[in-house]
Amino acid sequence: MGQASENGKSKLTVKSIQQMKGKEKIVAITAYDALWTRMVDPYVDLILVGDSVGNTMLGYEDTVSVTLDVMKHHAAAAARAQPQSLLVVDLPFSLAYQSMDLLLDSCRQLMQIQGVQAIKIEVGDESLFPKIRTLIKAGIPILGHIGLLPQNINALGNYRSYGNRESGKKRLIDWALALQDAGCFCVLGEAIKAHTAAEITQALNVPFIGIGCGAECDGQILVITDVLGMSEYIPGFATVFADLKVPIKKGIEDYSDAVKAGNFPN
Ligand code: KIV
Repeated sequence: MGQASENGKSKLTVKSIQQMKGKEKIVAITAYDALWTRMVDPYVDLILVGDSVGNTMLGYEDTVSVTLDVMKHHAAAAARAQPQSLLVVDLPFSLAYQSMDLLLDSCRQLMQIQGVQAIKIEVGDESLFPKIRTLIKAGIPILGHIGLLPQNINALGNYRSYGNRESGKKRLIDWALALQDAGCFCVLGEAIKAHTAAEITQALNVPFIGIGCGAECDGQILVITDVLGMSEYIPGFATVFADLKVPIKKGIEDYSDAVKAGNFPN
């Protein structure tokens, strides 16, 4: 633990996130720049600079177009807010499947951004387990992402849920345990049936954070634009906690009307 911030929150590390398992629910959210990192930081434990920046902020249809340079740009912006929450960055599309040297180099470029503390990798193949072990040995904390992998959308054809059938459930539990065994400090599940997610949570010693995985997980993560009602499409599992679209539009409309009417500046 580091120095406490103005609101009394101490800097969170991968160890502090691990220690929350079984004691306190972990709250995680995405943020992609300094403005929103500053806004969310007092209320959450983990901030993910997600590659969902592609579809939420940059106008892409999905996360596939997001490159390492884009992630570096947004990670650096979020890190400049100096959050007390743990700052995790997504490894973008396909880079996990490069040679070990190139994968290490991509992760190194993200980790060498001052303030970045860990990397999230979408795990779509068992061949990544030994690679993740090597990254962790190199001092790069890894959060393994299982279940629905949005980076695979072109291969999958659509977004669906996972872990309904026995075979699917077993595979997810095995993979979560393999990631823990490789040294992941935490595992993230996306769109996994609640009963399977509950079993994964029970099986792991490290925290299991869910998005669309039901209430039994050790923590929850949501995409910030879903929480604030600003996404083009809001998935069924997300809850809009504050609908900002209306007041934001109203503010801009009022400004426009005031200028057009000659009432601003007055
Ligand atoms: O990029 C992202 O937003 C994610 C979600 C699972 C939170 O990976």
